[in-house]
Amino acid sequence: MKRALALVICAVTLATASVAFTQSFGVQLFGPKGPRQPINFSHQLHAGKLGMRCVYCHSAAEKSPIANLPAMSTCMGCHKIAKADMPEIVKLTGYFERNEQVPWVEVYVLPSHVKFNHKRHVKAGIQCQDCHGPVQTMPVVYQYPSLKMGWCVSCHRQRLNDAQHPATMDCIACHH
Ligand code: HEC
Ligand code: HEC
Ligand code: HEC
Ligand code: HEC
Ligand code: HEC
Repeated sequence: MKRALALVICAVTLATASVAFTQSFGVQLFGPKGPRQPINFSHQLHAGKLGMRCVYCHSAAEKSPIANLPAMSTCMGCHKIAKADMPEIVKLTGYFERNEQVPWVEVYVLPSHVKFNHKRHVKAGIQCQDCHGPVQTMPVVYQYPSLKMGWCVSCHRQRLNDAQHPATMDCIACHH
């Protein structure tokens, strides 16, 4: 029994150490494992089980070049009451009461020489999931596509002659 407990403690210590290692050395987390977030927020729960629409929280994705993360007030609209006594919600409420944003770890980052525009893509009828994968099944969001130039360009090439929303291969459309 004691031995089993020691093993568990050992495993937990190792897991914590490896997360700390990855975070402190800025290793890019790519593949079906996202970064450890300051609050254990689950898309699987909110966008999957509870069926919330993506733009309920990320409304800027259809209105502007950059998508937003939700304001604290969006969360607190439900969590002033829902699960208010659960530890993660107590943590969330703490940020809210101190007037702080949750320091979410960014998952999707393009190099600064690349231009991207959410509104243009969403208005052309491309689904969030076409680019971000089945986010509604992800307990932790991870980078789904490679985000390499080839990924962008292969879709643009397929849609060069789209009647309503032709994409472009111009270097300067995507680069500063
Ligand atoms: C209840 C609010 C909520 C809903 C609904 C929601 N999200 Fe999120 N989303 C968040 C929060 C909070 C984060 C930051 C924490 C994280 O990455 O999990 C986030 C992060 C993301 C990210 C990563 C952003 C980055 O840092 O690069 C993507 C992509 C994303 N969401 C896509 C979606 C998609 C697609 C849907 C619908 C299937 C969706 N979200 C539904 C709240 C929400
Ligand atoms: C429309 C209402 C609604 C909104 C908005 C909402 N949530 Fe939730 N959330 C819920 C409900 C309901 C549950 C419990 C679901 C369950 O357990 O089946 C939950 C569960 C959670 C949990 C797990 C709590 C536990 O049991 O440990 C966390 C953490 C959480 N939400 C964080 C957030 C964050 C962060 C935001 C804002 C980005 C947010 N929620 C926005 C309704 C909401
Ligand atoms: C054509 C592909 C594509 C579609 C469609 C798309 N996204 Fe994104 N998304 C991206 C890329 C690429 C980034 C990284 C942008 C950057 O780093 O400048 C990103 C970043 C994000 C971010 C982080 C904030 C930001 O703008 O950098 C969120 C949140 C997000 N997307 C949510 C969504 C939601 C919600 C939808 C659907 C309404 C959506 N996206 C549709 C490709 C897409
Ligand atoms: C799933 C397909 C798809 C992917 C993936 C995709 N795009 Fe697009 N993109 C389109 C389409 C279709 C349009 C044309 C939209 C319109 O005209 O309304 C477009 C338009 C654009 C525009 C506007 C061009 C102009 O004429 O001004 C830019 C910039 C752009 N994309 C950059 C990117 C970048 C950068 C990436 C990768 C990070 C990317 N796209 C990934 C389909 C895609
Ligand atoms: C649809 C958008 C898109 C178009 C069109 C596009 N690029 Fe890119 N390009 C990207 C993205 C995204 C990256 C960053 C990811 C990467 O390095 O693969 C990139 C990266 C690059 C890089 C840096 C590669 C590296 O290893 O750091 C160069 C150089 C480049 N592109 C040149 C071009 C030239 C030249 C053209 C025109 C023939 C072009 N791009 C057209 C999206 C695009």
